[in-house]
Amino acid sequence: MPPMFVPGPVDVAPEILAAQSRPMLPHRAREFEAIFHRAADKSRAIFGTQARVFLNASSGSGLHEAAVRNFVHKKMLVCANGAFAKRWHDVAVSNGKDADLLDVDWQSPILPEHVGQAVKGKGYEAVAFVHNETSTGLMNPAREIAAAIREASPDSLILVDAVSSLGGVEMCMDDWGIDFVLTSSQKCLALPPGLSLAAVNDRALEKAKTVENRGWYFDFVRLETHRVKDTTPATPAIGLVYALDVQMDRIMTEGLENRFARHRAMAECAQSWAAAHGFGLYAPEGYRSHTVTTLVNTPGIDMAGLKAFLLERDMRIAGGYGKIKDTTFRIGHMGELTVADVQALLAAFEEFMGGKG
Ligand SMILES: Cc1ncc(COP(=O)(O)O)c(C=O)c1O
Repeated sequence: MPPMFVPGPVDVAPEILAAQSRPMLPHRAREFEAIFHRAADKSRAIFGTQARVFLNASSGSGLHEAAVRNFVHKKMLVCANGAFAKRWHDVAVSNGKDADLLDVDWQSPILPEHVGQAVKGKGYEAVAFVHNETSTGLMNPAREIAAAIREASPDSLILVDAVSSLGGVEMCMDDWGIDFVLTSSQKCLALPPGLSLAAVNDRALEKAKTVENRGWYFDFVRLETHRVKDTTPATPAIGLVYALDVQMDRIMTEGLENRFARHRAMAECAQSWAAAHGFGLYAPEGYRSHTVTTLVNTPGIDMAGLKAFLLERDMRIAGGYGKIKDTTFRIGHMGELTVADVQALLAAFEEFMGGKG
């Protein structure tokens, strides 16, 4: 399997592809309901929650919309230091919410004290932020941010996008006082795209019951009445649910701590190599992502040439994203990849730089 070093969609193990293509079952069949229940139940471990997890047929962006429609009647805050949080804000505004933006420099973390000041006395119904910004390779201190929001504005729901961290980095939703966490299948969970997962605690679900115009497809109150019967109002992504069921077993066999350590080790490998070879690291020290590294192309290497060179060796990396598209590029190190894979990629970089660099 040629390794893909892009921050999603990532490589999927053959065993998972095989699980996905097992014969379809009707989604109202008992056999499928049992699998649906099992897959959702097992995935609670990666969220660090005892609360319910919804499995939805959509990519993660669908849940940005679900969150603002379910949890916000009018007023919310989005804290943004990257392209994906900015998108979440756009989603909120386009759904008619009165969404303020805490606009943080892309090379700075979202600081708990800053958020605490921003929410105090404002009556925000919800505060949203992105755990791991896939555009910048910056990981925000989710636990500390959540604590600051809880202290300064106890009634605000805390909504977290963990699209490019969940399953590769620790998340303790219940212990950290987070009410809602969303993710996509095609990142650290190493599944094909098309499934999104949402952990929703009781406080968030109670709030949803009071919000009007939640829509239909992503109405968590409606979804809950079906979920308790191990089903969904509309047709689920059956093949992806099969795949999640098997992948959760693989993840638990590896062990969460081992999985997180593997992601950390890959990040250290990529980031120390980048620093030693004259590349800038876009994210500041102490906040660098464990799942994606955003490199500043300080040496000015020919990116198109590098990408073509890597492709000949069956490797892919990603360009920059959003406003830093032309000055940065990204190495995804998530999912099934290992330190040895990252080392092979870096050796190919060196070969390219030695030849043309
Ligand atoms: C942090 C983050 N949030 C949201 C999204 C959107 O997710 P999806 O493409 O699954 O809709 C992405 C996609 O890369 C992401 O990295």
